[in-house]
Amino acid sequence: EAEDALGQVQDARALDEWRVRYLGKKSALSQVMRQMGTLPAEERPRAGEVVNRCRERLQAAWEAARTALSERLLAERLASERIDVTLPGRRQERGALHPSVRVIQEVEDIFLGMGFSIAEGPEVETDEYNFEKLNLPQDHPARDMQDTFYLTDTLLLRTHTSPMQVRTMERMRPQAPVKVIVPGRVYRRDEDDATHSHAFNQIEGLVVDEGIRMSDLKGVLEQFARAMFGPEQAVRLRPSFFPFTEPSAEVDVLCINCGGAGCRVCKETGWIEILGAGMVHPHVLDGAGYDSRRFNGFAFGMGVERIAMLKYGIEDIRHLYQNDLRLLRQFARPV
Ligand code: PHE
Repeated sequence: EAEDALGQVQDARALDEWRVRYLGKKSALSQVMRQMGTLPAEERPRAGEVVNRCRERLQAAWEAARTALSERLLAERLASERIDVTLPGRRQERGALHPSVRVIQEVEDIFLGMGFSIAEGPEVETDEYNFEKLNLPQDHPARDMQDTFYLTDTLLLRTHTSPMQVRTMERMRPQAPVKVIVPGRVYRRDEDDATHSHAFNQIEGLVVDEGIRMSDLKGVLEQFARAMFGPEQAVRLRPSFFPFTEPSAEVDVLCINCGGAGCRVCKETGWIEILGAGMVHPHVLDGAGYDSRRFNGFAFGMGVERIAMLKYGIEDIRHLYQNDLRLLRQFARPV
């Protein structure tokens, strides 16, 4: 009966039930063994031998069944969990540097190559550094040039990276030369449109030393434009006004998208304004601890997104802020 029953066993639980039933303490076999003492002495050896053989046989049968069962379960698992190592893997998408970040890194490389160092400053600025120390006293009409996000009476979101001109000079004085560029985010209360954004990136540049001339500024900017856009890149300076530079200029580069013929990237003008610049105003130098009778310098502030738009032929600045993967994927480097 026990052997027949073992033949029906299909899984570990049934096997265990079988063991309890036929080999356990309450099994018929155990009951027989317990009753041995009631037999006449001469019958005990023979009866003991029969019972023992029976028990050994059932024990051996149980062990064999257990081995067979575990082998069968293992075989089933191996079959069901088979891995096809020849299947192609699932491709991970690689991230890409945002075009604005790429421009910042390229500009940094170019200026590092010209001996500049890189600094960074706070996005929450004081009125003093963003305006006063840049020769823009309270109520100066030029403050209206830049609509400002004020946080308190004296704290604001910087409208340009120029406050870092002053912070850098104050940190460096009295050493010369000062040669630094400062990338960073700036904020203005502008309506967002194809060419304006309330938050964008600038890179400030500042050189202070003895005997710096406007031609040094022009040479550095031409060198930069050629490294950035190509060896033939044309650059033009237009007279302009900033309270913290005198004289001041705005700098245009010939549109590389249309070669000057006029297109949507340059709004049909053939030129794109990429930065403001000029000779550091004596008031700014003196205020930051560099005697303007001995030192002079130049400064510039370029618009990162403008450069990205020109370099990559992007017609609307908003494309740079919307994180549309169709745009960003175009900047993934080939694997
Ligand atoms: N800070 C000016 C702006 O944001 C640019 C500038 C920087 C002009 C340095 C002159 C010198 O428009």
